[in-house]
Amino acid sequence: MENVVGLTPLAKRVLVTGATGFVGGHLVRGLADAGIAVGAMLRAESSAQVLDQRATILHHDGSTGNLHALVRSFAPNVVIHAATHFVGTHEPDHIVRLVQANVLFGTQLLDAMARCGIKRVINFGTTWQHFDSDHYNPATLYAATKQAFEDIAAYYAEAEGFAILTLMLPDTYGPADRRGKLVSSLLRVQKEGGRLDLSPGEQRINLLHVEDVLSGVRMALDRICAAPARTHEAFALRGPDTLSLRDLVARIERLGGRPVPVTWGARPYRSREVMRPWMGPLLPGWSPGIDLDRGLSDLMGSK
Ligand SMILES: NC(=O)c1ccc[n+]([C@@H]2O[C@H](COP(=O)([O-])OP(=O)(O)OC[C@H]3O[C@@H](n4cnc5c(N)ncnc54)[C@H](OP(=O)(O)O)[C@@H]3O)[C@@H](O)[C@H]2O)c1
Repeated sequence: MENVVGLTPLAKRVLVTGATGFVGGHLVRGLADAGIAVGAMLRAESSAQVLDQRATILHHDGSTGNLHALVRSFAPNVVIHAATHFVGTHEPDHIVRLVQANVLFGTQLLDAMARCGIKRVINFGTTWQHFDSDHYNPATLYAATKQAFEDIAAYYAEAEGFAILTLMLPDTYGPADRRGKLVSSLLRVQKEGGRLDLSPGEQRINLLHVEDVLSGVRMALDRICAAPARTHEAFALRGPDTLSLRDLVARIERLGGRPVPVTWGARPYRSREVMRPWMGPLLPGWSPGIDLDRGLSDLMGSK
């Protein structure tokens, strides 16, 4: 994240939640590379092994009071809230974790920030909040919890004078992805063998490289540092390529020069499968820099 310091004079101390996650981990590294002091908020059970060593680790015990003390002691200019619990299709025993990570923890965080006078936040949403490209129509319970947090954040913007910018993400991919998501699973079976059971594969997906998430966050930092109180806005980030799952597999086969062993139609579509991704307004001034051919080729080269 070159130039972050020069472009964002106010963002000198940034607190990142979800710092052990895919996006959060890349953010911690990118911010530290730019000379920004980074605090990484971790749960007691989180493993700090994967974390960039330049981050200041703040262990959260789950209570609101402890969160307040940690935010006060680190005193960030901006908080980047990247913690989440994701599940595509929920079961009853996912509900506590979904609400805890996506609603409760974020609310505790905003309240702690308010009491410390720290009022600039970058948050992440999901394009799945816009099923059928509706203004608001959650494709999954996960997406509904993401919206619930945004609605709570609107209170902190209006009542407490926060400036909150939500970046709406499509599927992301890139190096060091331990989530077992689509792209890494396809590359794994192409390289190591095995077989992936997939749906019929006609759904169109947009894929955003994690380095482009970082460039979006860099712009968002600029924007949030200049934003007036009571700002709450949301913009999309998306990759240059939108294609069907079948075309994605064909693309990986072409780039890798080997078949990707998948069984089409072995799984049904989800009951609310997103067949066409939402194409909402992009973050002003931002565009992605990494197309799918380059992003996938780099990943193949590094494996
Ligand atoms: N990546 C995508 O494709 C995508 C797409 C749309 C939106 N988003 C959004 O982008 C953001 C980053 O996603 P990601 O893919 O990087 O997530 P991720 O890899 O699944 O990481 C989730 C992070 O949240 C932490 N976490 C989980 N439950 C928590 C809780 N109850 N309290 C505090 N921390 C908790 C995890 O910590 P532990 O290490 O302790 O588990 C981990 O650091 C999220 O807001 C997500 O909703 C991502």
